[in-house]
Amino acid sequence: MNYNKKTVKDVDVKGKKVLLRCDFNVPMAKDGSGVITDDKRIRAALPTIQYLLDQGAAVIACSHMGKPKGEVKPELSLKPVAQRLSQLLDKPVLMAEDVVGPDAQAKAAALQPGQVLLLENTRFEKGETKNDPALAKAMASMAEVYVSDAFGAVHRAHASTAGVAAFLPAVSGFLIQKELDFIGGALANPKRPLVAILGGSKVSSKIGVINNLLEIADTIIIGGGMAYTFSAAQGGKVGDSLLEEDWKDYSLEMIQKAKDKGVKLLLPVDTVIADAFAPDAKSQVVQAGTIPDGWQGLDIGPETVKLYCDAVKDAGTVIWNGPMGVFEFAAFAKGTEAVAEALSKTSAITIIGGGDSAAAVQQLGYADKMTHISTGGGASLEFMEGKDLPGVACLLDQ
Ligand code: 3PG
Repeated sequence: MNYNKKTVKDVDVKGKKVLLRCDFNVPMAKDGSGVITDDKRIRAALPTIQYLLDQGAAVIACSHMGKPKGEVKPELSLKPVAQRLSQLLDKPVLMAEDVVGPDAQAKAAALQPGQVLLLENTRFEKGETKNDPALAKAMASMAEVYVSDAFGAVHRAHASTAGVAAFLPAVSGFLIQKELDFIGGALANPKRPLVAILGGSKVSSKIGVINNLLEIADTIIIGGGMAYTFSAAQGGKVGDSLLEEDWKDYSLEMIQKAKDKGVKLLLPVDTVIADAFAPDAKSQVVQAGTIPDGWQGLDIGPETVKLYCDAVKDAGTVIWNGPMGVFEFAAFAKGTEAVAEALSKTSAITIIGGGDSAAAVQQLGYADKMTHISTGGGASLEFMEGKDLPGVACLLDQ
């Protein structure tokens, strides 16, 4: 996939209406109060919105929220986002009652340069997730330029993330540009040595990433629940730890692939085990592959921490995707925290995949020490898998 895409700086938007796809799929309080519990994704869109307004464009922003499956679900309305965006921009944000219906059309037609309109949740339209050309065309008809800044949704080939690019000149916003520069740069032309740290609970959800990074990285570090499948595949005892029986052979294939490619593959040498999956469970450290029945591994052990932290010291680039243990429980967060701290001290370019790894780095207080924390969960995973991203592929090449 070509990462070298035209950006908002390559088009003249003065006096034009710009359809701006954002990822405003923000977490909301479960009580239905409409309170946004984390506005990071709204903040992440501000540089592009502000730039467009400063250039004299009228901004028609749009996004999905949740999975309403083509139905209008009031609890998934973007109204709270319009309010928050208005506070952050310190100016009114008009809200449309629909996506391409009469209210959106009328408000878009009347929109003046310097004004912002937010359309309703694009997934209230049945055609959105089907990438229906009629919906894409209707959205495009309200604007003259399409800017995508919805990195979190670029792995979706939907009407508002990809389809609309067939009807308008399509360029990226600053957020997508930044994600392409950092993640794309690390995959295509990394400062070496490139160390990839892969964690999380399941091998099955990281197959694509492990496989792709074995082609690119100099060292791969495995932690988190998926390490127990690697251990069991090599004949280790994993007790009651997370284990994916069906992925044992694959784990062995990956160990062999690493040998064939000359990639250093580091697996845990010791592990913190617990007698229950609970924050206050009884715990002890044992050698990897010697976990008794009735016990489960919840974090990497101190020897492994030392091994992994040494491995990132002289790295040129580190990509991290997935925590080393159950960092949500303080007693089992030490491995993840030690790796975060090691990353904060290295001079390497440090890139944190979205989702759990980003949450861990934030929760543990190391966010401002990383070079780049991705705003995309599934999107950054698919990017690291080497897949084409429809929401990027549809943009104009430089
Ligand atoms: C995300 O939160 O990862 C993106 O907004 C994409 O959402 P989706 O998985 O519902 O497509």
